[in-house]
Amino acid sequence: MADHPILLAHGPNLSQLGSRDPAVYGTATLDDVGKTARAVHPDVEVFATEYEGELVTRLHAAGRDGTVAVVLNPGALTHYSYALRDAVELLEVCVVEVHLSQTHARQAFRRHSVISPVVSVTITGAGVLGYRLALLACRERLGLEQEATR
Ligand code: DQA
Repeated sequence: MADHPILLAHGPNLSQLGSRDPAVYGTATLDDVGKTARAVHPDVEVFATEYEGELVTRLHAAGRDGTVAVVLNPGALTHYSYALRDAVELLEVCVVEVHLSQTHARQAFRRHSVISPVVSVTITGAGVLGYRLALLACRERLGLEQEATR
């Protein structure tokens, strides 16, 4: 599985998990997310940035560096970043969009994702479990899950 690097990419404010609005996002930190993710798929890189361009640049690199799948929580960029959407669209690997919170039950502006139309799977509102589900979806598509789990 060391040959199957999966990128967990995060946009603005997700570096603050653990202390950011725990009633909405829970108490797990991004480090905890990484640990949870590695229990499902050991070869995971956790990347987080506050900057749209840096996230776009990291996704460009993911298209060239052997990354086999991307789990993406774009933060607020979800709702308006066409630059991020275009970068996701360039990727030929499976991309799973994850939101910790149930965005559809929150403010109106969070109900629309400009990213969803260009990803394979979207998981919303399952908290940190969403990352585990996302990795299972990636693994399934990569043929790394057993028949029995289908
Ligand atoms: C989020 C939802 C977004 O609306 C918000 O801006 C975030 C986090 C989530 O994980 O629930 O930063 O993507």
